[in-house]
Amino acid sequence: MATAQAAPPAPNLYRPRYHFTPNRNWGNDPNGLVYYRGRYHLFFQYNPYGNSWGHMSWGHATSRDLVHWKQHAVAIPETQVMAFSGSAVVDRHNSSGLGVHGHPPLVALYTGFNPKTLSQSQYLAYSQDGGTTWKRYGHGPVLDIGSKQFRDPKVFWYAPTKYWVMAAVRATRNQVAIYTSPDLTHWTHASTFGPMGARATAWECPDLYPMAVAGHPGQVRWVLSVNASNGAPAGGSGTQYFVGRFDGQHFTPVQAWGKAPVWLDDGADLYATATWNDIPSKDGRRLLIGWANNLRYAGAIPGYPERGAMSLPRALTLHRTAKGYRLQQQPVKELLALRADHHVLNHVALSGRPTSLESALTDAASSELSLDVSTGSAQQILLTLRDAQGYQTVVGVNPAVNEVFIDRDRAGPHFNDGFGGRQSTHVDMHSGRVHLNIFVDRSIIEVFVDRGEKTLTDRFFPGSETMRWSIQARGGKAKLVHLDAWRMKPYRPTSDGLPAVSR
Ligand code: FRU
Repeated sequence: MATAQAAPPAPNLYRPRYHFTPNRNWGNDPNGLVYYRGRYHLFFQYNPYGNSWGHMSWGHATSRDLVHWKQHAVAIPETQVMAFSGSAVVDRHNSSGLGVHGHPPLVALYTGFNPKTLSQSQYLAYSQDGGTTWKRYGHGPVLDIGSKQFRDPKVFWYAPTKYWVMAAVRATRNQVAIYTSPDLTHWTHASTFGPMGARATAWECPDLYPMAVAGHPGQVRWVLSVNASNGAPAGGSGTQYFVGRFDGQHFTPVQAWGKAPVWLDDGADLYATATWNDIPSKDGRRLLIGWANNLRYAGAIPGYPERGAMSLPRALTLHRTAKGYRLQQQPVKELLALRADHHVLNHVALSGRPTSLESALTDAASSELSLDVSTGSAQQILLTLRDAQGYQTVVGVNPAVNEVFIDRDRAGPHFNDGFGGRQSTHVDMHSGRVHLNIFVDRSIIEVFVDRGEKTLTDRFFPGSETMRWSIQARGGKAKLVHLDAWRMKPYRPTSDGLPAVSR
């Protein structure tokens, strides 16, 4: 007898193809970023049961190249406590005693949130098989200070004193508490940093890491990054950072950060950023990834069967500038592997009439553009990504006021009052030139300005899957000196239960 079959789910218009998203269900912060034996681990805040925040557990994905991700079984499930954000390390010397057969254990420190008591304390889980399966250590936390606002431990090995360091937030106090441990299970309070820089309802997801200062051999500074739940330049949540010195106990900023916080990204959608532990020294990169979302509307964004995506992985460098130390971000070079259908345009005069880039791009919804623009006499240069329903997302350059912006006010059907608007970043254009490297992936746009001196990361939710780029100048003349355009190939196999999306 024939039975009615449920219709297959509609292909998700918004689902990124080369940014990591869970196969299905809700995901937020990246967690436990660690490299071990050829694999980059990406754990993430995950609800195994649904498409909104809840039952927080650690989802798990791995990649050999930071580009092709494979999702695995849940690594740390919810028990009486939810498994909130945290980090993971390779315990090379088996300081925890949790290693077997001469192999170092992988150790994760995460916040256990008890929904009944609201207590937040730090728990330990470990893996004896290189990160595939995880066991909980003991019956309770390894660090409990009786707080309801103490979370997101970032742990790393501090070689000079041969101990572990943990940075965790006292969230509502806007502080980062630093602890040390010989064995990852016994923790001693060392110092407390903050409040400083941008205050927020909560500080979340701290990170602390050394960076070589570019162009100053032998000079190292430490970056303390803290995610602020609100008050970021684009409204809502974002990542601020401090640069300073760290002696194994105290972090001391080298600049006065009091009045003008420094933000990692000026778009609306980069939050809960974190960097990888244990990248081999012969690689030496500091690699960062963030949750491409904003606490203002995170729960409301369209997305099915998954809701939640990561930014592209980025490599950081630290520079001494006239304004002080600043991080620069570049998409990781491994992404070059996804480029296809290369097209080049040279010396295109730009005026009021939009020049279509359609001939250069076979799939604008999944594309990378790298362009050099000579700003000429133009008041504005506009790159418009328009979908088949007429919705448009604009990347704009305003040379006279030295700003690059994303305008997503008319990017798609309305879904939340907190969404929308225009995000801008200050870029010095006195030279008359600007370089933009733009990545579009259906509902994510990332703009790297002047080789990552500034970045804008935004989600947008268009009306259709077909999109076209065009470029124009307003109020004068400008020149597209050079454009490289690529279609970006998807990393995701279509075998994850979802229908292939046809083009
Ligand atoms: C940041 C955050 C963390 C917390 C986790 C819970 O987005 O609120 O502070 O550990 O998400 O999912």
